[in-house]
Amino acid sequence: MFPRIIQGGMGVGVSNWRLAQAVSRLGELGVVSGTALDQLLIRRLADGDLGGAMRRGLEAFPFPRIAREIWNDYFVAGGKPADAPYPATPMHQLKEPRKLVELCMAANFVEVFLAREGHSNPVGINFLEKVQAVHLPSIYGAMLAGVGYVLMGAGIPLHIPGVLDAFAAHQPAQYKLSVTGAPAEADTWMRFDPADYAEGPLPVLERPRFLAIVSSNTLASTMLKRANGRVDGLVIEGAVAGGHNAPPRGKLQLSAEGEPVYGERDAVGMEAMRLLGVPFWLAGGYGTPEKFQEALEQGATGIQVGTPFAFTEESGLRADYKRAVLEQVRDGGAHIFTDPLASPTGFPFKVVQLASTSSDPEVYGDRKRLCNLGFLREAYLTAQGGVAYRCAAEPVESYVAKGGKIEDTVGRKCLCNALLANVGYSQLNPDHSIEPALLTAGDEINSIARFFPEDGTTYTSARVIATIEGS
Ligand SMILES: Cc1cc2nc3c(=O)[nH]c(=O)nc-3n(C[C@H](O)[C@H](O)[C@H](O)COP(=O)(O)O)c2cc1C
Repeated sequence: MFPRIIQGGMGVGVSNWRLAQAVSRLGELGVVSGTALDQLLIRRLADGDLGGAMRRGLEAFPFPRIAREIWNDYFVAGGKPADAPYPATPMHQLKEPRKLVELCMAANFVEVFLAREGHSNPVGINFLEKVQAVHLPSIYGAMLAGVGYVLMGAGIPLHIPGVLDAFAAHQPAQYKLSVTGAPAEADTWMRFDPADYAEGPLPVLERPRFLAIVSSNTLASTMLKRANGRVDGLVIEGAVAGGHNAPPRGKLQLSAEGEPVYGERDAVGMEAMRLLGVPFWLAGGYGTPEKFQEALEQGATGIQVGTPFAFTEESGLRADYKRAVLEQVRDGGAHIFTDPLASPTGFPFKVVQLASTSSDPEVYGDRKRLCNLGFLREAYLTAQGGVAYRCAAEPVESYVAKGGKIEDTVGRKCLCNALLANVGYSQLNPDHSIEPALLTAGDEINSIARFFPEDGTTYTSARVIATIEGS
């Protein structure tokens, strides 16, 4: 049995355990975002773990010493003072400090554990292939919590299925970090052996299903032909979807407004999809009863939906941002700009135009560049043969000093800090500035008005599902 509606993973922390649990309880697939969960966990603990969910999750973690140390290191009873920054960790890299690996594993466990509480339906986790350094401990932590699906896009995750197979048997696994300039034979493997962390007998694990998120027929068939293990299905995501988008094929052309122009070559052929013989879900503007029916008629198993869920009562978005966007939608005026530059990944990124966030040129201009989270850093080979890291949104001088091209820094935004700010965990910087937010949503944002009740703008994920299914 496969779900008909997948609530798409939305990072950072927009599709948190609360949203995924609400969706999975209703029998569809709730998916937590696996991105930056280590940072979310420590910031929730620094805020005093309101409601006690993090404590519950950590208490269930099968490696109690690790859980206890994380609690002792980061929990602040009553919450940190408002004028104190959130705690920091080293940034992720090829050779990770042991404590960071443990934190990553536990944080992924906690999010999935909580999403699974109180029901027995499957829950999924979403990762971005490009955020590589965290893959192994994150996946293992999620599997310890019994994750039912792993979904991955933003890259070509050919070597993830094999990792799932190995971890299901508690065997060691490895994943090669992409390092710009490194020869193919260079040893840039990241390795993780569950036995190095186990504190007692290990639970029996099931191998989660693996769904690759792709945007073209070529990528779909490449995944099925070349992956190092079973690919259980595909999510086909079009360019109107919220979050990052695949760039248009061929030479990048921009519209008069400065957005990437997509054309016929970017359309995905449904006949070819059906012939691949695996279940597939369509994503990108499919969250309506009409588009849902259309997807089923095309032979899809169902749809993956993001934007309608991002603005539900259960999502992790900061309440005032959610309210402001819902008011724009009510007035018919929410506006999305597909920014070809904002994301350091180089992929187009959809940005909600909202005052007081970095979509406002003044707010963006006022932010002093810094890089202290580093999830989107590019690993590169140094002249001395070592591996170092750079991000096109870091201070321009340091990026250029690391061999980055100055033109690649133009218009780049620090998504790591902004996405944590979106869900209420803005960092307070040493110069007392507060990290601004930058919201993302799909092009069809104004159509979420259909979920509004007669007398307001707030709605639940149950309402989204019932409306789409026409029940
Ligand atoms: C706020 C937001 C954050 C997102 N973050 C991610 C992400 O971290 N990883 C991912 O694979 N997709 C991400 N997406 C894409 C969704 O999972 C989903 O595929 C997409 O939203 C579907 O299109 P729709 O927005 O038109 O419904 C995000 C979408 C939104 C709206």
